Amino acid sequence: MLEAVPMSHSRTVQTRLVLPPDTNHMNSIFGGKVLAYIDEIAAIISMKHAKMETVTASFDSVDFFSPIRSGEIMEVEGLVSATGRTSMEVYIRVSSLNIETKERKLTTESFVTMVAVDGEGKPQLVAPVYAETEEEKRLFESSPQRRAHRKAKREMPHSFF
Ligand SMILES: CC(C)(COP(=O)(O)OP(=O)(O)OC[C@H]1O[C@@H](n2cnc3c(N)ncnc32)[C@H](O)[C@@H]1OP(=O)(O)O)[C@@H](O)C(=O)NCCC(=O)NCCS
Repeated sequence: MLEAVPMSHSRTVQTRLVLPPDTNHMNSIFGGKVLAYIDEIAAIISMKHAKMETVTASFDSVDFFSPIRSGEIMEVEGLVSATGRTSMEVYIRVSSLNIETKERKLTTESFVTMVAVDGEGKPQLVAPVYAETEEEKRLFESSPQRRAHRKAKREMPHSFF
């Protein structure tokens, strides 16, 4: 088994300015744009942890709590919150910052499963993680429940054609 590393090792933060081309007719960012940013940061986070290429196996959950408007600053941050043998559960949260009102809001939360792969796309072992802060401990301790949920979902019939 590989040596455990702190969850903070993979922590990544990306800051962006939301501009009119990113937004819909209601002046708020397209959900698909947010998903693309989540996918990108999940790749960076998982590659930092696994020290190799990774692929997205599943968007396990995405919850949108409030919109981000054009002109606001968007912060996307996350880390590896738990690991399996070759998979990594990546936790990502998105917040908005309005410079005029100074208001900061949590707008989106997501869990993504990433898998470490070799050059042929074959899954590879990853190191376990350990939590240091209270928030990391909460994420880590709740991960078996999410893993069980993912397993149950995968076991459901999913080809309806
Ligand atoms: C993800 C992928 C590498 C898994 O390969 P596989 O041959 O099914 O390998 P395994 O069954 O051994 O699964 C490997 C790990 O992935 C996890 N996994 C596979 N599919 C999953 C899914 N849909 N959701 C969550 N976890 C998944 C397994 O639980 C296992 O985790 P563990 O090793 O930590 O126990 C393969 O399905 C793949 O390449 N998918 C396409 C990825 C891609 O192209 N993504 C880009 C977006 S389209």
